[in-house]
Amino acid sequence: MLTEQEKKEIDEELNRSVHKRAACVDALKIVQRRRGWVSDESLAEIAGLLDMTTEELDSVATFYNLIYRRPVGRHVVLLCDSISCWIVGQEELYAHLKKRLGIDWGQTTPDNKFTLLPVACLGACDLAPAMMIDDELHGGLTPQKLDEILDTMKHS
Ligand code: FES
Repeated sequence: MLTEQEKKEIDEELNRSVHKRAACVDALKIVQRRRGWVSDESLAEIAGLLDMTTEELDSVATFYNLIYRRPVGRHVVLLCDSISCWIVGQEELYAHLKKRLGIDWGQTTPDNKFTLLPVACLGACDLAPAMMIDDELHGGLTPQKLDEILDTMKHS
């Protein structure tokens, strides 16, 4: 069940939108920001507020790869797997991340700290290979740089 605060924030988005459904991504983000992901129950409730069917809203949520429809860890590692990054070493980084975190695509570490997901081009091809952790973009990655980034997150 959505909280009063979530409903209030979604209502504010609706007031800024010409059409209710235009607020759908922002509404999903409001819930995800508080819960980490968007459950079926939350999605159905949001759809009701937007006068959308759950199927319509789910199709948006599953198309938009920054909306998580399953629980994720505290930090989401989005490693770009598009062409520019792949050409300059994405596969080595993927292998390194799999080994370091002990998980594969779509999985979360047992301590619930990291979830590893592939992502299409982050729009930072000039920084390839690139990844995003939470909302922070990292480029020019090497296995060593990956380790340094993950080491800084040891206590978060
Ligand atoms: S292909 Fe990776 S950032 Fe563009």
